[in-house]
Amino acid sequence: MNTPPLTIGLVGCGKMGQAMLRGWLESAAIGHVTILDPMAALPLQQNTTLTDNIHSFSQHIGALDMLVLAVKPQIMEEVCSELQDHIQSHLPILSIAAGRTIDSFKHIFADTQPILRAMPNTPAAIGKGITVICPSSEVTQDQKTHAAQLLQTLGPVQWVEDESLMDAVTALSGSGPAYVFYLIETLAAGGTKVGLPEEMAMALARQTVIGAAALCETESDISAATLRENVTSPGGTTEAALKILMNGKLQKIYDDAILAAQKRGKDLSD
Ligand SMILES: NC(=O)c1ccc[n+]([C@@H]2O[C@H](COP(=O)([O-])OP(=O)(O)OC[C@H]3O[C@@H](n4cnc5c(N)ncnc54)[C@H](OP(=O)(O)O)[C@@H]3O)[C@@H](O)[C@H]2O)c1
Repeated sequence: MNTPPLTIGLVGCGKMGQAMLRGWLESAAIGHVTILDPMAALPLQQNTTLTDNIHSFSQHIGALDMLVLAVKPQIMEEVCSELQDHIQSHLPILSIAAGRTIDSFKHIFADTQPILRAMPNTPAAIGKGITVICPSSEVTQDQKTHAAQLLQTLGPVQWVEDESLMDAVTALSGSGPAYVFYLIETLAAGGTKVGLPEEMAMALARQTVIGAAALCETESDISAATLRENVTSPGGTTEAALKILMNGKLQKIYDDAILAAQKRGKDLSD
């Protein structure tokens, strides 16, 4: 049986809000989106209502199937406090704000409010992210399906039931794009040390990461280890480099880095 198209409220329509909205407007699953953003300069689209203040937005809240919060974490509490009086305790609320816990929303809204805490990463802004969602115990199966439909516009979606894993998720995929940017920098620096001009080394490093990532995407049924083995001829140049990269030191550095990010995430949400 087909479910009727969803009516969504979107609070905050910046980079991530607009990335989601683009996908929603192309999806038959979404019927109408009411947006609250004081400054959003969006071309008016069919099926959207743009509001710039809580009073106008609140007129639409009663009709919503889900409220999506996409403002910066620093102003989340202030925005939620303003919305609080207009939100009924059964309305599912989906937040994509980094580090904002399920409890922090329950303190502001109702104790029994269905909350979905999601962690996308920056490539989500171009539909190439990965998002992990953690639902509160009140979230129904239908609401989970709706949340997945809404976030799939940012890239693939995965679920965790244990919220404490969200710090590990943040440490891997949330912060991970920056680790890859740093990898490009270190590759380029290595290239200059064997004689390449700086600009050329950076161009080669950057495109190598882009190309390898694209291969991972198109060959998604082949493991990273097999992709690596496929380009490593015995006695060749790649093997010579990998003997050094795979001596355990790099793994230890990644282990320490991911642990540090996880710990920082925990400290920030305590
Ligand atoms: N960007 C990413 O890749 C990424 C990755 C993971 C998670 N996230 C999460 O996604 C959320 C949004 O990030 P973003 O990068 O999209 O931020 P953004 O571009 O700054 O978007 C936030 C939007 O909210 C608007 N806003 C400010 N005050 C508001 C209010 N009182 N009511 C309604 N809207 C208001 C902002 O308007 P003004 O610009 O006029 O202030 C802006 O348009 C954040 O919580 C962040 O943690 C983002």
